[in-house]
Amino acid sequence: MLKITFAKSPAATLKTAIIPVYKEGKLSESAKSHKTLITHTIENHPNFKGKLGQTLVITMGEKNDFDHIILLGLDDPKKLNAIKAQEAGGKLFVALKSLGTTAAGLLIEEDAKVKDLSTTDLAANIAYGLKLRSYTYLKYKAKPKKPAPEFKSFSIISAQSTTTKKTYSALESIAEGVFTARDLVNAPPNDLYPESYAKFIQNELKPLGVSVEIIDEKKMAKLGMEAILAVGKGSERQPRMVVMKWNGAKTSSGKSSEAPIALVGKGVTFDTGGISLKPGAGMDEMKMDMGGSAAVIGTMKALALGKVEKDVVAIVGLAENMPSHNAYRPGDIIGSLSGKTIEVLNTDAEGRLVLADCLTHIQQKFKPKYIIDLATLTGAMMVALGHEYCGTFVNDSKLWKDMDKASDHTGEKLWRMPLDKVFKNDMVSNVADLQNLAKSGRLAGACTAAGFLEHFIENDTPWAHMDIAGTAWRKSDQPTAPKYGTGFGVRLLTQLITEG
Ligand code: BES
Ligand code: ZN
Ligand code: ZN
Repeated sequence: MLKITFAKSPAATLKTAIIPVYKEGKLSESAKSHKTLITHTIENHPNFKGKLGQTLVITMGEKNDFDHIILLGLDDPKKLNAIKAQEAGGKLFVALKSLGTTAAGLLIEEDAKVKDLSTTDLAANIAYGLKLRSYTYLKYKAKPKKPAPEFKSFSIISAQSTTTKKTYSALESIAEGVFTARDLVNAPPNDLYPESYAKFIQNELKPLGVSVEIIDEKKMAKLGMEAILAVGKGSERQPRMVVMKWNGAKTSSGKSSEAPIALVGKGVTFDTGGISLKPGAGMDEMKMDMGGSAAVIGTMKALALGKVEKDVVAIVGLAENMPSHNAYRPGDIIGSLSGKTIEVLNTDAEGRLVLADCLTHIQQKFKPKYIIDLATLTGAMMVALGHEYCGTFVNDSKLWKDMDKASDHTGEKLWRMPLDKVFKNDMVSNVADLQNLAKSGRLAGACTAAGFLEHFIENDTPWAHMDIAGTAWRKSDQPTAPKYGTGFGVRLLTQLITEG
């Protein structure tokens, strides 16, 4: 695991130094101590333009302090912000890794050319991006006999090392949450199923001071959670609901007065589609259908590690959607915790059923200030927005404003989608209260799915539904995330809850 350290001057053992430069070879303050060498090198490498995250390696002769100096492009210093710094850090990680570097240090000095970011924030965010990009999932790989040299240590060398360390350590808590979410999404469905997942949550979060309650299938039946039970019926592995509480708000009486913030996550550990079976090609990827729950778990971890002073409750609905002689069928009419009956028209529209019971339970139990649910809910969301934006349905303008701000701050992009009575009414059945497929068919599938969920929101509670079908899983590397599980949502939710 990559360790990030902070110092005022480079250790004598440091052999690789990283020095920032700007676009068109403009020098940063840190570059000035090697001005002639750097200017000369840049002149001889016309392809190096100092673009964001672009690197250029200078091999130093003997008698130098460093073996290598690596120039790191930061583009226009006037336009630098935290997200760009993270992107540069992510790209730097890839460059260092491909060079086989085991230890490197970033030399960074106060620079008036950087307008909107303090040196501390710039350095901490470069380190944060580097850390986020360094994630690997090797749990199921045999240990190589001759392991390649590992990139183990990255140091930030600056006069402000103490404050930088402080800023970075808050970001590192969030990175830990992101990594947990990625681990969960990447986990194979034969090992991650409702029962094992619930135990994992307990083991992971309890020691951090989060209270964890596991509701098993018997308790669910007693409570009347017929919707999530129907989804899980076809599987040998019975569903679980996990209720978490983080009481971070501090009041003089020890008890907080404000209603808690509520998070809900879809945790379908594998979605075959059930009797409405999905096509075989690419079905393996449906192990990511618990991405919403993973983001919720990752956020709870980040909040607890960061000791965030807010009260947050969270519920994840865990079920495996399988076809079998026990499975629920198209045509079935099932109940739900809310009391509403649902005509099942397609067993592959299971996420909304799982969420329905989670949403009802969290409202009945906690009367939250607002609710945010996250779910890999519809293929239609991906058709609409692809992989870059998370479609977000919100019934409250203040909540949307806060989410939009958290999105700008973290770079996890949201796009507001419409909630409309038309979509809501489209989910009303002729024979039951609701149906799980829209009467109008496939068009606006992400919106009608949100319309279904809206039936379970009581008393106009502020609520947002984030359909992360396109953003939870990537098939190619991103600047601050290697391919597969992205951990999307953890950064945004942690920011929103911390600041909101
Ligand atoms: N888990 C899927 C949605 C999904 C698809 C997530 C692709 C990520 C990538 C969900 O349960 C599902 O199957 N939805 C159906 C709904 C339809 C039957 C109304 C869909 O999108 O096709
Ligand atoms: Zn499905
Ligand atoms: Zn699903």
